[in-house]
Amino acid sequence: MSFDIQYDATAALKHIKKKHWRNLESELLDARNEVFADVDLMASDQKIPKSKQPLDAGFISLPQQLLDEHDRDKAHSLLGRIQAAADHMRNEVDQVVSLGIGGSYMGARALFEALCHPYHNELTRQARENSPRLYFEGDNLDNDSLSALQELLQQRCRDRTDKSQRWGLVVISKSGGTLETAVAFRLFRNAIEKYYGDGSTECRQLVIPVTGESGKLRDLANVRKYEHVFPIPDGVGGRFSIFTTVGLLPAAILGLDIVELLKGAAAMTARFQSASFGENPVLDYTATCHLLETESNIDVRVLSTWGKSLEAVGLWYDQLLAESLGKKEKGALPLTVVNTRDLHSRGQQHQEGARDKIITNVIVEAPRRRAVSIPQDDLDQDQLNRFQGKAIPELLTAAIKGTNQAYADDERPTADIRLPVLSEHTLGQLFQMLMLATVLEGRLIGINPYGQPGVEAYKNNMLDILTAGNAGK
Ligand code: PA5
Repeated sequence: MSFDIQYDATAALKHIKKKHWRNLESELLDARNEVFADVDLMASDQKIPKSKQPLDAGFISLPQQLLDEHDRDKAHSLLGRIQAAADHMRNEVDQVVSLGIGGSYMGARALFEALCHPYHNELTRQARENSPRLYFEGDNLDNDSLSALQELLQQRCRDRTDKSQRWGLVVISKSGGTLETAVAFRLFRNAIEKYYGDGSTECRQLVIPVTGESGKLRDLANVRKYEHVFPIPDGVGGRFSIFTTVGLLPAAILGLDIVELLKGAAAMTARFQSASFGENPVLDYTATCHLLETESNIDVRVLSTWGKSLEAVGLWYDQLLAESLGKKEKGALPLTVVNTRDLHSRGQQHQEGARDKIITNVIVEAPRRRAVSIPQDDLDQDQLNRFQGKAIPELLTAAIKGTNQAYADDERPTADIRLPVLSEHTLGQLFQMLMLATVLEGRLIGINPYGQPGVEAYKNNMLDILTAGNAGK
C-alpha cells in the first residue's frame, strides 16, 4: 500500500481552460527553479540581494538535512538532542505548558490535535502511554484563559515529589520579544520557580526555551542557565518552522515519531523537485488555485477538512497562506471548515453564495480507531434501522460524495487532497506540500512569501498605547 498523499483536481479542471493549464507549465517550472535557486543562494556565501530579502527558504531542505545528521551523529544530532530532552520531560512530569503564538504555536497544536487521542488530556497517564498532558498558552491576551490554567496547575500540582503532580514549561519565540508569549512566560516562570524553588535543578531542566540565536529570550535563557535551549535557525520563518524544534519538541514530548514526520516532509520535497506537472501535488495544487483566481476571480480558498482532528491543520494553513501572500493588496483568502459540522453553518453559502470559492477537501481514507456502526433498535422511532450496520466512515464517505456532487451539479469547483491514513508520515507530506505550494505561488505572482511586515503595525500601536499609559501615571 502506498502512503503517498494524492492531489486530485479533476472536478476543478472543468473550470479551467486546457490551454491556460498547458501555458502555465513553463511559468510554474521557472517558479520551481527559483524556489530551489533560493535554497542554493542561502547555502552559498553570496550576499542575498535586496529584492530577495527576507529570504527564509531554509525549510525546504531542512527535513532531509536533519535526517542525514541524525543518521550520522545519532544521539549527538539535533534530533537526538530533541528526543533526549523530550524523553526527560516525559519521564519527569505529567503536564507541560507550551507557550508561543503564530508560527511558534500553530504547528505544534496541529500535530497534537491530528495525531493524539481526541481526549488526550483527560486520559490516565497509562492510557496516554506516558505522554504528559499538553496545554497551550501565550497565544493570546486572554486573561481568563491564562488565569484558569494557572489555577488548574495550582490545584493539581501540590506535591512536587509526585510525578503526576509535576509540570514543565516550553517557551517558543523566534524573536524572543513577542509580547503575548513574553508576558505568559514571565507568569508561568514565576509559578514554576515558586513550585520547584528559584534556581532549582528542576527549573533549569524543566523549562525549555526554543528561540533564535539572539534576542531577549536567548539572553534570559543564558542568565537562568537552562539546561536545554534549542535554536530556531535563521533561514526558517515562523510559519515555516514546524520541522524545526518549534514543532518537533512538542511532538516528541507527546511521543510522536518525529523521524517519520521528517521523512514525510523530505519525500514531498523530492516529489516536488522531480515529478512532472499533472502528477506533482505542489505544482498541480498551485496551478489549480492560481488559474481559478486569475481566470474566474475565485479568490477564496476553502480548506474543507473532513474530520475534527484536522481543524488545527486548517488553522495552521490559514496563517501560512494569509501571512505569506496577503501583501500588496494581493493574496487569496484562506478559510478552514470542518465537515460535516460546517455544512450546517457555512454549507449554504458554499452551495449558493458568491462564486468566489475553490473547495479543497482534505480526506483521510481510513479511520485511526475502531469503526462505530449504527445499532439495531426495536422501536425504530428515529427510522435509522434502514441504515443499521452501516459504520460512521461509510456515512462520512456518503457525505463527501454527496457534497462534492452537489457542488459539481451547480458548477462549483472542488479538488481533493487524499491521505491514505493520518500519520506522522502523511502529515509531514501535507505540511510540506502546503508550504512549498505557498512559496511557489509567491514566486509565480511576484510576492515575497517570506516576512510579514504588515503585522508590525498593530504591535507598534499597542506598545505606543501601553507606553503612553505608563507616562500618564
Ligand atoms: O510566521 C511568523 O513569523 C509569525 O507568525 C511568528 O511566528 C509569530 O509572530 C511569533 O513570533 P515569535 O516566534 O518571534 O514570537
